[in-house]
Amino acid sequence: MPVLMPLRTPRLTLRPVAHADAEMLWALWEDPAVFAWVGDGSVPSLESVQLAASRYEACWVDHGWGPLMAIRTADGAELGACGLFPVAGDDGVLTGEIELGHRYSREFWGQGYAGEAAREVMRWAARDLGLTELVSIIQEPNTASRRIAESCGFELAGTRERTRGERSYRVCWYRWRTQA
Ligand SMILES: CC(C)(COP(=O)(O)OP(=O)(O)OC[C@H]1O[C@@H](n2cnc3c(N)ncnc32)[C@H](O)[C@@H]1OP(=O)(O)O)[C@@H](O)C(=O)NCCC(=O)NCCS
Repeated sequence: MPVLMPLRTPRLTLRPVAHADAEMLWALWEDPAVFAWVGDGSVPSLESVQLAASRYEACWVDHGWGPLMAIRTADGAELGACGLFPVAGDDGVLTGEIELGHRYSREFWGQGYAGEAAREVMRWAARDLGLTELVSIIQEPNTASRRIAESCGFELAGTRERTRGERSYRVCWYRWRTQA
């Protein structure tokens, strides 16, 4: 576990997601609105969130980076997850790319939390982890997520067709690279 955790912003504490967070994440995400522009749009089962949380914990062990729980420091409210996620291709195999991602409970949208967390994640990724390239893969209509990518310095590299399960959809492929 990196010594630099947790990350802090003016309002948030960001700490690594662990397997034990699965039920809480599932409760925050059990809402079709959260998945309207994520994957094939279906709300995941508790079992699949448990699997994801285990993979997230393993990501931290393997790489020293991964998804983070976003917690409101003032009252300890758990808002959702953000941070760095390994990218999988349509075949489920990891591509080696790292994605800036976020998934918050609807209750907390529109208050600037995701942007505030994303800016701190970018600072951590660039300065503390020394990462030089990140992607952000966003379904076209997801305006709030695209705004965050753009305000964090990502550039639109193009659009691509993506397949998840039965569904294919177009995504905007944003890329961020450190300046040479
Ligand atoms: C996308 C998401 C993370 C945004 O979280 P948030 O806390 O509401 O975002 P913020 O309040 O920090 O706003 C980010 C930017 O989007 C803008 N924005 C917020 N909601 C918006 C909306 N509904 N339409 C257009 N712009 C919006 C904000 O004004 C802000 O822009 P600015 O930096 O120019 O001021 C959140 O809605 C979410 O978790 N959605 C479900 C999961 C998801 O879609 N994740 C992204 C997958 S790629």
